[in-house]
Amino acid sequence: MFDKQENRIRFDYNNMTQDYIGDKGLSEKELRDAKPLAANAYTKVKDGAGKGWMGWTDLPFNQKEIVADVLETAKGIRRKFKNFVVLGIGGSALGPIAVFQALCHLHYNELPARKRKGPKFYVEDNVDPERMLALLDIIDVKETMFNVVTKSGATSETMSQYLVITELLKKELGEDYKNHVIATTSQSKGNLIKLAKQEGFKTYYIPDSVGGRFSELCPVGLLPAAVLGIDIKMMLKGAGDLYKRANSADPFKNAPLMAALLQYLAMDKGCNISVMMPYADSLKYMADWYCQLWGESLGKAVSLDGELVYAGQTPVKALGVTDQHSQIQLYTEGPFDKVITFIAVDNFRGEYIIPQGLPEYPDVNFLCNNDMGLLLNNERRATEYALTKAQRMNRTIYVPQVNAYTIGQLLMFFMLETAYCGALLNIDTFNQPGVEEGKKATFALFDRKGFEEKKAELNSAKAKSDRFIIKG
Ligand code: PA5
Repeated sequence: MFDKQENRIRFDYNNMTQDYIGDKGLSEKELRDAKPLAANAYTKVKDGAGKGWMGWTDLPFNQKEIVADVLETAKGIRRKFKNFVVLGIGGSALGPIAVFQALCHLHYNELPARKRKGPKFYVEDNVDPERMLALLDIIDVKETMFNVVTKSGATSETMSQYLVITELLKKELGEDYKNHVIATTSQSKGNLIKLAKQEGFKTYYIPDSVGGRFSELCPVGLLPAAVLGIDIKMMLKGAGDLYKRANSADPFKNAPLMAALLQYLAMDKGCNISVMMPYADSLKYMADWYCQLWGESLGKAVSLDGELVYAGQTPVKALGVTDQHSQIQLYTEGPFDKVITFIAVDNFRGEYIIPQGLPEYPDVNFLCNNDMGLLLNNERRATEYALTKAQRMNRTIYVPQVNAYTIGQLLMFFMLETAYCGALLNIDTFNQPGVEEGKKATFALFDRKGFEEKKAELNSAKAKSDRFIIKG
């Protein structure tokens, strides 16, 4: 019997405090004095929940029929198709990638079909022609289901992939091509919904109140996960339970609220970088997903009062132990500008005992007879110790085991932390004007109708000078 209590994630912020890292840390008084600020952020998030852009708080609770439909569709896909390809970018891709990596075999696609029990899985989140050609080298479109995912239904990258794939499918399958495309998009706007209706694609809706980077718990993430055989009900349960437990305005009793407050106070001390460092390969892409969520949500020029604030904290992904041999030197001895968040796994889903051998080499022999998971966790503990000794702010989220329930909790933890932090910073957490500007400039470069003014603006920008270009 699955024990939900035993599977609760834990947030440890000892090493953010002066008690542990001296004057580089936060004092208890600072934290206590900031309680009203945190309470205010909590109230803003609570009052906004389920409304405006905060429909994601309802997703664990209001999708019974959608989940049933997704599971039914997924069953058919698992039976009929050899490949399942997600076409999407940003929030329409990073969640599915993170959950796939977390909850499927780490070499899933290479497993024989009988062990996989589902189609091979690919997420195409770029428009690199080499990557598209490479995908088409290894899949047969006739045996593939394509899930086109775009909230806006207008994203150039995704729509160009849509054009490529539908042309190929039509050539190969004629009318039947429609049964190889599922659209996940907004019900009310964009081109994809129009195309889906016109062509008769199976369609799932992204609620208007759910932005791309907050969409993993709606069909954006649920369909790919269900196709992979992941227990999506358990994932939603984990997210829902975490959400219900984050029900206090007191940061000392609400983990994501405390997490947000700590980052907010750390930013004030010049810690403008947030490193997300899971110590588990399965969580490697959770760090990617987090980076988009944190970066795009909090990086804002203007406050809600119209003041120029240039807010944000640069998210950086790292992987333990791999990046101990790449980044930790900088984190330990470089500038005091980072908060490092470790994600630790208490119990790995498998063990591998390092075999006996080389007794004549004591420098190697000490490793023998130990589980590799113990080595990984001891290296994390050692790194945490070294950072703490060097007075570096660090915190740890403990995951009892990586499973659908804990992944659901992690997703909700970070979404709440982001929303609380946005409220503390008094910025609009849910827009992305900086991304929009680049999107518009791309349209102008392609002479898209309606973007003539932007084209003129681009044309009038100062041309690059050869004076500053050196041939290598
Ligand atoms: O968080 C967001 O809204 C963005 O990062 C989007 O996910 C990204 O730009 C892709 O947009 P869309 O899903 O509309 O294709």
